[in-house]
Amino acid sequence: MEEKMAFAKGLEGVIAAESKICKIDGLNGKLYYRGYSIEDLAEHCTFEEVTYLLLYERLPTTSELAEFSLKMRWSRDLAPPILGMIKAFPKKAHPMELLQSVISYLSGYVAHRIEHSAFCNCRDTLHQVGQLASVVAAYARTREGNDYVPPRMDLSHGANFLYMLRGKEPTALEGEIMDKCLLLHAEHGFNASTFTARVVASTLSTCYCSISSAIGSLYGSLHGGANERVMEMVHRIGDKKRVEESIARALEQNEKIMGMGHRVYKIKDPRATIIERYLVQLSEQKGDVHDYEILKEIEKVAQKRMEALGKAVYPNVDFFSGAVYRLLGIPSVFFTPIFAIGRVSGWLAHILEQRSDNRLYRPKSLYVGPEPHEFIPAHQR
Ligand code: COA
Repeated sequence: MEEKMAFAKGLEGVIAAESKICKIDGLNGKLYYRGYSIEDLAEHCTFEEVTYLLLYERLPTTSELAEFSLKMRWSRDLAPPILGMIKAFPKKAHPMELLQSVISYLSGYVAHRIEHSAFCNCRDTLHQVGQLASVVAAYARTREGNDYVPPRMDLSHGANFLYMLRGKEPTALEGEIMDKCLLLHAEHGFNASTFTARVVASTLSTCYCSISSAIGSLYGSLHGGANERVMEMVHRIGDKKRVEESIARALEQNEKIMGMGHRVYKIKDPRATIIERYLVQLSEQKGDVHDYEILKEIEKVAQKRMEALGKAVYPNVDFFSGAVYRLLGIPSVFFTPIFAIGRVSGWLAHILEQRSDNRLYRPKSLYVGPEPHEFIPAHQR
């Protein structure tokens, strides 16, 4: 009976650890990384600066940031064996499968000291944070039969990713928006992939094993990947005049509207508000407001219908991001890998935090199987 009371399916709402990294106020739609609001960080910081904040627990000074950025940029280029692996990987595989394999492979190509402490030299080499974006860009090009584009040292993490992906320097606005999108995905508390990373780290395994496991967890459609399905919905609907009828039909059939609703936020996700602004800017710059108009109509219609049913369902981080990525020329199969490129900083911060006060995760299950009974030899069964 006591065990039954403590049971929470999916560990929903169970406090599994103390953490100083991320605060989410779901009722008021607020998100903070180490006490700084996501709005302030998106307004004033780069992805590199936020990575420093996550890993070092405070914002860097100007000189610290310059040194840190340099280190991260030195970590971008891919070694020939990694490029060989990317070229040999099946072109039709999902990039998340490649990412998971590459991380394990990477650990053999860097002189890293495995330290089971908060001061592991992953924080110094920044190898995984630097390389993930390059791996995704290189695989995207390989699939199209294009050559690897070596990284540039003068571009931000986001702008360099677009440069390596497209082989041409992005506009200032495109580069900035890409960088901010990575920043907005960098951290989000004890979600499934972050929890996975911490569970693996708690066994005293390496950062590489922890991050590769987290990537496996993010691959699942209940976690990463909703923005890809938002864009499928937008293309299926095709015209804003068809939104009302299409959403009504979907809700009647108890279908979920992709990119809406959240386990924690009971109001519009603050990241969705920021990404919507980027979508408006980009749509205007490119003179292509087609997806944005459909998305706004979906938001309006779905919200009205859900409110009438007394349900709090508002856009989440995935609602507008797919449309931004499409305008940046990124194929939809790479939307979830982009999530990983940003989230790797948060995963690393959590791995280090886990190690700073480690306790092996070992929950119990509630046994509901048969009571002990007599063994029956094979010839009598
Ligand atoms: N479309 C239609 N109905 C939705 C909905 C959506 N996107 N999101 C939630 N609801 C419904 C729920 O089914 C529930 O209905 P019920 O009371 O009749 O059972 C009600 O609204 C309240 O849901 P809530 O408890 O707030 O959310 P949840 O924890 O059940 O679901 C998600 C959270 C994320 C799983 C859900 O919103 C979802 O599947 N969204 C679409 C996928 C997506 O965008 N995922 C990315 C998340 S970042």
